[in-house]
Amino acid sequence: METIIENCNNSEAIDTAAKILRQGGLVAFPTETVYGLGGDALDPSASRRIYAAKGRPSDNPLIVHIADKNAVRELAAEVPETAVILMEAFWPGPLTIILNKKPIVPDETTGGLPTVAIRMPSHPAAMEMIRRSGVYVAAPSANRSGRPSPTTAEHVAEDLSGEIQMILDGGPVGIGIESTIVDLTGPVPMILRPGFITKEMLSAVVGPVELDPSLVELDRESSRKDHPADFTKTENPSSGPAPDMAMQHPKAPGMRYTHYAPRGTLSIVSDIAHPEQVTEAVTERIIVLAKEALAAGKVTAVLTTGENSGAYAALTEDPHFHRIILGNTDDGQTVAAHLYAALRTCDSLGCEVIYTESFRRDALGSAIMNRLIKAAGHRVIPV
Ligand code: TXA
Ligand code: MG
Repeated sequence: METIIENCNNSEAIDTAAKILRQGGLVAFPTETVYGLGGDALDPSASRRIYAAKGRPSDNPLIVHIADKNAVRELAAEVPETAVILMEAFWPGPLTIILNKKPIVPDETTGGLPTVAIRMPSHPAAMEMIRRSGVYVAAPSANRSGRPSPTTAEHVAEDLSGEIQMILDGGPVGIGIESTIVDLTGPVPMILRPGFITKEMLSAVVGPVELDPSLVELDRESSRKDHPADFTKTENPSSGPAPDMAMQHPKAPGMRYTHYAPRGTLSIVSDIAHPEQVTEAVTERIIVLAKEALAAGKVTAVLTTGENSGAYAALTEDPHFHRIILGNTDDGQTVAAHLYAALRTCDSLGCEVIYTESFRRDALGSAIMNRLIKAAGHRVIPV
């Protein structure tokens, strides 16, 4: 199949995309978070095609994208007051809510779950495409399963060219990491995946909000001391359930898989005494580790911030060394926007060993660290 790529500012391209969706085909499209791979959410065969194109396990449910808040009442069995408040406060925008589903939502779309994930994206092309298609659009991130989520149309083409009918090109996305997911089926709203909409932002409108216990555990892990990173091990745990998540099952099935992973071995270097800071001890350790990897003949990369990048200047003379600056320390938005592209850059540079500094867990910081810890397959090197 030939994949057509069209600029999303072209109104005819939106019409073409809408028609493909109506006919059961697949279209990748920009949202404010990451690119999505859309298909008709109420057509089981379209959902099956999404799983096939991504190479994704079919027990990992899809998010249903809508362009009109009223659609929630057609998809969800009941719409609690908290859902109404959250929709009013954050839609359209990077928030996904989980509600009990109505029978019209096929099991193929929800991975057999009795619940459905719903989100109203704010990207104008996404909204227009959904509206003109007349269908609800099931859309996971438009990457091959296990690869970093796509933040440009080129990333989508890298992974899915030839597998899908169309890519709508909207340039680089704004946010760069996936939506916050909140489960509203229990007594207290529970965050299943952190994102741009933070716990504090949610609590400000609906009161107490819980974190999925498996997220808390993931957080704790990043300050554990028993995760030695061995760069000589080349296997990359890029798919399948991460073994150490077995004790606490994340409620979002997708959070169980080692996602976002670059092909090289990524490790987070973190100062146990000051996990919120990149201390000199951290940069010094990264330099030592990078030198060791380079001496072993490995193409090596360091992910850093504008402020800290100078520490690695001497290493940049080695042609096998790559320094990738994600943004400034206090600018979580820029770091988030560059994170997945940086992981893909590591792949295209053929990096075998990658070290990253850790990031402060303020606002977007917890979402950034959540994605990094997963990308690193939980490898944290304590200093
Ligand atoms: O920002 C986003 O949410 C992007 C854009 C394209 O909208 N989409 C996205 O989709 O990230 P995906 O499929 O890559 O991630 C969806 C996550 C998975 O972890 C999945 O397990 C979880 O949502 N999920 C979907 N339906 C669920 C449900 N009914 N209950 C619990 N988790 C669910
Ligand atoms: Mg995804």
